[in-house]
Amino acid sequence: MREQLAIDGGVPVRDVAHRPWPRWPIYDETEAQALLQVLHSGKWWYVEGEQGKTFEQEFARFHDAQHGVACTNGSAALEIALRALGIGCGDEVIVPPYTFVATASSVLAVGATPVFVDIEEDTLNIDPDLIEAAITPRTRAVIPVHIAGRPANIDAVLEVARRHGLHVIEDAAQAHAAEWRGRKVGALGDMGTFSFQASKNLNAGEGGMVITNNEQMADAAWSVMNVGRVRSGKWYEHHVLGSNFRLTEFQAAILRAQLKRLPEQTARREASARHLRQMLAEIHGICLPSEDPRITRHAYHLFTFRYTPEAFGGRPLSDFLRALNAEGVPCSSGYVPLYREAVFVRYARRTGTWCQAGRPQDYPNLHLPVCEQVCSDTVWLQQYLLLGDTADMEDIATAIARIQGAWGR
Ligand SMILES: Cc1ncc(COP(=O)(O)O)c(C=O)c1O
Repeated sequence: MREQLAIDGGVPVRDVAHRPWPRWPIYDETEAQALLQVLHSGKWWYVEGEQGKTFEQEFARFHDAQHGVACTNGSAALEIALRALGIGCGDEVIVPPYTFVATASSVLAVGATPVFVDIEEDTLNIDPDLIEAAITPRTRAVIPVHIAGRPANIDAVLEVARRHGLHVIEDAAQAHAAEWRGRKVGALGDMGTFSFQASKNLNAGEGGMVITNNEQMADAAWSVMNVGRVRSGKWYEHHVLGSNFRLTEFQAAILRAQLKRLPEQTARREASARHLRQMLAEIHGICLPSEDPRITRHAYHLFTFRYTPEAFGGRPLSDFLRALNAEGVPCSSGYVPLYREAVFVRYARRTGTWCQAGRPQDYPNLHLPVCEQVCSDTVWLQQYLLLGDTADMEDIATAIARIQGAWGR
């Protein structure tokens, strides 16, 4: 007999009032003590304290990079990296359309033009084979995003970028601790950017970081972060266009404590994802991203899978999301193609392009078919669910199987 779904009045697979999902963020007395220490020191400011500077070193070392520049958030980190590389008006930057708005709006913010290149259906990351065709004499950089915490094919991106003299900025906002062929992401290209916003795998409510192995780029990023000052300069000496993008000592203190938790949490997410993958592979119509031996650590900021309506009685994705949420499994669809966001459409309409010096971009008429397909059928599960145990993962698979059972194939 078919079980009644929770959306139809049945009992949910998971009663979250009695069996809540793992809480996020995770903290204890360590974070409390770290905050109190900063409080009582009276040094709440990056310029005066040691927490921010120490965190820069610790995070950079953890990510196999020589230099770290902490900042207010991951959006600012992208803007800092672009400015540090001298990218501005009239320049073009290649970005994927399946990402958070900041990957491309940071390009607009420095006066340059984002050029969208489609993604790979399997990995949801930028398709390196399509980059070359988008390069023009104005192109200065590529921003691959390690979406969901899955490293993009950085070897292939670097190969085309190096051939054309382009910078590579890795947007690693979702990819703390992720590894590509045994090396942490972020400093595999020229610069890498991270976010420590509340949902991220490393979190202080807000925060960001730029990492690099290039000392000059690190100094340039530090200047942009610190209102254009230079490390050896006087207080009122401003060399480049920057802003106040400084992290506070309170955030840095929390991040230092959270960084110690990250390796164990990452391992837990990976183990849960493995278990969940095994179970979901048995369910017809649930498509999982393939495994890639070059990805030696997946950060699993998100667990993603693609939904095939035909395997669920023809019901649309929106019905599936409602049903799965009702069974007690929090889930969502993700992004819309970024070039459809009003910010890009509006600027394309208003001026032909954001910067008059740039090539016009017809965002409203752009169609990147893989991104559009993926946006219509992808399901996201947030990272904190993966901090659960095997029974938690079984609830997710059970809920999906139950929906399929109720709706029929
Ligand atoms: C891929 C990506 N890039 C950039 C950002 C921007 O980070 P923040 O929210 O810290 O500004 C985010 C955060 O959502 C992100 O997911």
